[in-house]
Amino acid sequence: VGPITDDSGWLLYHSVGRFPGQREVVGNILMASLDAWLALDDKRWQVLEGRRRRAIELWARLIGASPKEVFTAENVTLAFHAFIDSLANDRLAGRDVLVAEDCFPSIRYLLHALAPRIGFRVKTVEIAPGAAYVTDAQLIDAWDRKVALAVVNWISSVSSKRADLAALLAHGKHLGSLVAVDITQGAGIEPIDVKAISADFVASTSLKWICGVPGAGFGYVAPDLLLELNPRVQGWYSQPQPSNWTLERFTLAGDARRFGTGTASVLPYAASVPGLEWILDQGITNLRQHNVALCHRLIEIIDSHGLQLVSPREDSQRGGSLMFRLKSANDAEEARRRLLDKGLICDIRGDRMRWSPGAVTTVEAIEVLHSAIDEAIPRAAR
Ligand SMILES: Cc1ncc(COP(=O)(O)O)c(C=O)c1O
Repeated sequence: VGPITDDSGWLLYHSVGRFPGQREVVGNILMASLDAWLALDDKRWQVLEGRRRRAIELWARLIGASPKEVFTAENVTLAFHAFIDSLANDRLAGRDVLVAEDCFPSIRYLLHALAPRIGFRVKTVEIAPGAAYVTDAQLIDAWDRKVALAVVNWISSVSSKRADLAALLAHGKHLGSLVAVDITQGAGIEPIDVKAISADFVASTSLKWICGVPGAGFGYVAPDLLLELNPRVQGWYSQPQPSNWTLERFTLAGDARRFGTGTASVLPYAASVPGLEWILDQGITNLRQHNVALCHRLIEIIDSHGLQLVSPREDSQRGGSLMFRLKSANDAEEARRRLLDKGLICDIRGDRMRWSPGAVTTVEAIEVLHSAIDEAIPRAAR
């Protein structure tokens, strides 16, 4: 079977999402933004800031929030930082912040940097020996009244294990903990309603299933918490009306704009609007249906070749990706390169290979993958 020459072998949605017509529509919005920037008129800020507002509106819709509860940050790590550092010190000092070992590593790096400064302990729930991920039961076991804040990763980027957010949040609320959720690997492929689960804070990028570009992250803060949050970085964009230039009249906005700082980044948001519009037009449930059908076939393929699946088999416990383990990181890298030669685009994390089929991935491409495996992944590597 010859190599695939279009994007139907795209299995990279856990990292970079794509959708039909993306190049043209994103190109158009970027060119229009540049035109507005250079135009001999006075509309440039209105147009560009309008595109960032549009991205905020769409992301808010995706998670069931109001745009007033959403702020922007360059990436997820910064959004988490902004939230955690804005909490009153007595919320966290002397208490525990709970996190799973297999959350996105950057979040753990951040927590360990903030812990000595704020005075909290990082309580890490480790992956059990021989297991592929931290389970919800382990998290709940470790989650007691000393936990001031739990940072929950909805879907793991290295196993695709999906946390039961409703159950975890119910447990956390019962104990009076704050709960911050990283929804990066689920946003755009699994429906989520931040109000229904009563999340205190939620963040994602616009990469991955949302099909945006780098540099456009979002944070959501529950409205009942907003007014007590005091962002460490404040500037003219933190005000109800950024155009106030008098220190004596400075006030923090009553909504999530208080997390604004100086002049906002706009181009990544403009370039991420088409992806957000596209996925919302398709409907997340429909996108997930296509993904699940392809995942079922991929699980059959993984099993029939004796590959070691590390992702949960149950659809309800898994995100949009499938991950399996090879004998070594070198084997995984070799396999990745051979699959790439066939037009099958995936990646690896150590000895784990990651396959994430999305909107542009086809049934036919999955069959090309099936026939490519014997050559790409020798038996000794499985
Ligand atoms: C679960 C999860 N969180 C966060 C990120 C990205 O974080 P940041 O935007 O800070 O790079 C990723 C990217 O792979 C991820 O998988």
